[in-house]
Amino acid sequence: MAAKIGPVTKVSKELLDLLNDSIARELQVAIQYMWQHVQWGGVKGFAVKDELKSIAITEMKHAESIAERLYYFGGIPTTKPTPIYVGSTLKEMISQDVKDEENAVNLYKKVIAKAKEDGDETTRLMFEEILKQEEDHHDTFATLMEDL
Ligand SMILES: [Fe+2]
Ligand SMILES: [Fe+2]
Repeated sequence: MAAKIGPVTKVSKELLDLLNDSIARELQVAIQYMWQHVQWGGVKGFAVKDELKSIAITEMKHAESIAERLYYFGGIPTTKPTPIYVGSTLKEMISQDVKDEENAVNLYKKVIAKAKEDGDETTRLMFEEILKQEEDHHDTFATLMEDL
């Protein structure tokens, strides 16, 4: 039986590992923001809860698109999120979220650079789109933080 013909673009193991790291982080924040959305408290939390819900859904979509890309290259997407931190006060929650978005921005810049190096335009473009959204999330959480 002939071997299955692989994807046109060949990428490095390093890029595939970065994609799986990205998936683990997206899973983490999707769950983290969802539970923060459930556990918010106080009057200020009222203004924050819808934002948490909508960003949680965006993160889940990121996880899915990245997983599709990884699977296309023959990788198996991880089911394990990086450690989730919900926090007990709104201030604890949002200050953690600011850090997680900062981490996402840094990681995705690395992914973009590696995809570029590997000549993988599709992954590069995909992550440029995602990066824009993570910068927005960072800005949203950083702005909310000012009033907590
Ligand atoms: Fe994301
Ligand atoms: Fe994000």
